[in-house]
Amino acid sequence: MKKYNFLYKIVPSVQLVNTTFQKNILGRITKMKRKVLSAILAVAMVATMMVGCGSKEETAAPAETKTEAPADKATEEAAKTTEAGGKIGVAMPTQSSERWINDGANMKAQLEALGYEVDLQYAEDDVQMQVSQIENMIAAGAECLVIASIDSSALVNVEAQAKSANIPIIAYDRLLMDTDAVSYYASFDNEGVGTAIGEYVKTAKDLEGARAAGESYTIEFFMGSPDDNNAVLLHRGVMGVLQEYLDDGTLVCKTGRTSFEDTCILRWSQETAQQWCENYLTGFYADEDLDIACTAFDGFAYGVKAALQGAGYTAENWPLVTGQDAELMACKNILDGTQTMSIYKDTRLLAEKCVTMVEAVMKGTEPEINDTETYNNNTIVVPSYLCTPVAVDKANLEELIIGGNYYTKEQLGL
Ligand code: GAL
Repeated sequence: MKKYNFLYKIVPSVQLVNTTFQKNILGRITKMKRKVLSAILAVAMVATMMVGCGSKEETAAPAETKTEAPADKATEEAAKTTEAGGKIGVAMPTQSSERWINDGANMKAQLEALGYEVDLQYAEDDVQMQVSQIENMIAAGAECLVIASIDSSALVNVEAQAKSANIPIIAYDRLLMDTDAVSYYASFDNEGVGTAIGEYVKTAKDLEGARAAGESYTIEFFMGSPDDNNAVLLHRGVMGVLQEYLDDGTLVCKTGRTSFEDTCILRWSQETAQQWCENYLTGFYADEDLDIACTAFDGFAYGVKAALQGAGYTAENWPLVTGQDAELMACKNILDGTQTMSIYKDTRLLAEKCVTMVEAVMKGTEPEINDTETYNNNTIVVPSYLCTPVAVDKANLEELIIGGNYYTKEQLGL
């Protein structure tokens, strides 16, 4: 944003008008080129699939797999002049978590409202399936790809394919690493999510007061997937607030597992979080209660809840349990006290920001971005729009969640 402001200042307005005009024209030409290239690529890819006995296609069973014979269908789709908008491929990681179902539904609805045709696929946390789905989207004539990756390092080749076919890519919520094929990134301030969780713990447990009184609380950490850049940033944000209290003994982590490497949970697995928590409670908390379960995701909070219930925790000694995403189940748990807080990330807003990026690459316009510095994917710094995460607990849930029409009172059982 800063960079753009700078440009606006030095470029005379007449040139700006010209630039916008040129961009629109260029956008259209690029779009036409993309269609032709997509058609050629579709035929080439289908030929490769038919000749190469590609194992990827055999193993893939996309959630919304089209059953038509790929060759004619793909060519026909690619060659179709999409007056209204164009075809957008939306690749989502999994339907096992409610948030991604909402993300996909919001993206589809908002893009369709603008006249785009949407190919929405979920890969059920299967990395290879996501690769195949994206290959199929390219073959079927997608003019833009929106990707929420499972393991972005596995997508580098298919992203390069998209780039050489002039198909722009938008990274959705999770940054696409190690590629120059990504145009924009829409997400939340991911380190900010961690900071908000850390600050919540600090305030709720009055860590300053505890430090002054020489008191301490026990804490364990359940952090996100190591193949997800968001998880690394979240951990950094949490530790930015809590590390000093671990260092001086105000917070005591009895397992000693505080580093990202020691606390990250592959593919954000709820089952693993539950298993870890069960092991921790048995091995380290037989004589002393766990006071804080600092988790990075509502799914982890559900796993921790099950482990705590299994170990006989009740309302009297229930720990502070954090989460992220403000899923419906998490909000219900916040209301009944089995989860203390979550991070409200309005998926409608995220989809809205992402859609403006799709419009930009399709029409050659300029999307709203507010960060041009933070998200270095090891290859380029990706221009980003970061939405603001907000901590939600029992005290502000009604105002934020019901007031914001995120869930209704009925959904929450109120
Ligand atoms: C992350 C995302 C979180 C959470 C998690 C598990 O990438 O930032 O909000 O949804 O995935 O799905």
